[in-house]
Amino acid sequence: MEEEGEKLLRIEDYYYEVRKRFNEHHSPLDFLFINRAGFNGMIRFNKKGGHNVPFCKKPNRFAKSYVTKIVNQVDNIHRIIKSSDYTFLYQGFQETIKMAKKEDILYCDPPYIDRYVDYYNGWNAEDENSLNNLLDNFEGKFILSTWHSNKYRENEYLKTIWKKFEIVTKEHFYHLGGSEGNRNAMLEALILNHTPPKIDRKEQRIQGSLFDG
Ligand SMILES: C[S@@+](CC[C@H](N)C(=O)[O-])C[C@H]1O[C@@H](n2cnc3c(N)ncnc32)[C@H](O)[C@@H]1O
Repeated sequence: MEEEGEKLLRIEDYYYEVRKRFNEHHSPLDFLFINRAGFNGMIRFNKKGGHNVPFCKKPNRFAKSYVTKIVNQVDNIHRIIKSSDYTFLYQGFQETIKMAKKEDILYCDPPYIDRYVDYYNGWNAEDENSLNNLLDNFEGKFILSTWHSNKYRENEYLKTIWKKFEIVTKEHFYHLGGSEGNRNAMLEALILNHTPPKIDRKEQRIQGSLFDG
């Protein structure tokens, strides 16, 4: 981070050199670097799978304190992953849902339908219907996150295919996005096939501390 950050200051377009290298070799360290030097911390890929977020010019971006912060964040995630028996699978949701048993809880966080059209792998009505079908037939519990509405539009799918499930909402203000105009308040939704358990304050604090490290 320190070495590459220093080159970023000296060499014009160095960010794009690292981005190109990442798109060829997929080094996780290059990914971390372009993620922290790219525009608004956005993670976005083009249709061919190439990372295409532009550079966010900022003097002395990789100051020592920032590098320390990134290293601590990575170390925290490393400890969380090591603390339990996690398995990471890179596959379509259909396969994953079919692997689940009725004792499992499925949390699904797909791209928001009718919103992020530039996701390289897209998400369309067919995907949303297929997810709905699989979750409807799933015997265990599921939680699905999606959007409910904003100032201009509503998620029509909540009134049709998801209507029979429990829907809870929470307002969220987005800070990501190219222009001020994109940074609107959004009502988020969780769709569940069960009543969510009440979390008391004490329990919430314990959960919070794991991620705050
Ligand atoms: C909203 S993001 C999930 C973010 C993630 N939960 C997190 O906190 O970092 C949606 C993800 O769904 C993935 N995705 C898109 N289509 C998919 C599919 N057919 N099967 C499985 N995952 C898919 C995308 O690649 C993207 O990473």
